[in-house]
Amino acid sequence: MTPFLVVGHRGAAARAPENTRASLKAALDAAAPAVEIDVALSADGRVVLLHDRTLDRTTSARGPVRRKRWDELRRLDAGSWFAARFAGEAMLDLDGALDLVRDRARLVVEIKDALAVDAVLAVLSRRGAERAVTISSFAWEALAVARRRHPGIDLAATVKRLERRDPVAFAVSIGASALHPNRALATPAWVERAHEAGLSVIPYTVNGAAELDRVLRAGANGCFTDDPGALLRLLARRGLAP
Ligand code: G3P
Ligand code: MG
Repeated sequence: MTPFLVVGHRGAAARAPENTRASLKAALDAAAPAVEIDVALSADGRVVLLHDRTLDRTTSARGPVRRKRWDELRRLDAGSWFAARFAGEAMLDLDGALDLVRDRARLVVEIKDALAVDAVLAVLSRRGAERAVTISSFAWEALAVARRRHPGIDLAATVKRLERRDPVAFAVSIGASALHPNRALATPAWVERAHEAGLSVIPYTVNGAAELDRVLRAGANGCFTDDPGALLRLLARRGLAP
């Protein structure tokens, strides 16, 4: 049986400022077998790590990330908002994330800005890293584009709520391997239906024993967590260490 896949959410978002080198390192140091990042585009087309549309919450600047060039973004402080000891922690681009993660864990690249899909694929192709990553997105049209551009790349559809379009049917139609649902959606029946269609199910975001036990009972194949070290210890106590 494939082991339950622990995915560090935005790196290890409980331990260090999300989507930074410190956060990715914290996930890798905790031996997370997979690490998720959120990506968007800078004004000059660089693929950068950021969860929100704007810089306001997690950096020293304000406004949409799309309005700033990479040479401006790379000088921002993306750590102080989290804790004083992370002052000066820089924003990363996708190249930087690949440098850190690709030989040590699977990288889940969640595309936040649907327009970033071609830039993401270009970086992966230049780096020969297509097989080291899974591309995911709430913007399903970006996943459909990724599939048209790249027949072999691993895709996962992220699902926030009950959508107009059936996620199982959509994921099958683009040859995705997985669904990444909000954990509230991942009931045993929902997971079973995805499994019957050949999809694995990896809910987000699962922190703590009660949430873990719920997704285990539902039959999930893994989960996103803000603290991969803690989740791996909980799994070990249940005899489910990878
Ligand atoms: O990719 C799973 C999860 O990260 C989606 O939610 O908002 O944390 O990016 P969010
Ligand atoms: Mg995400």
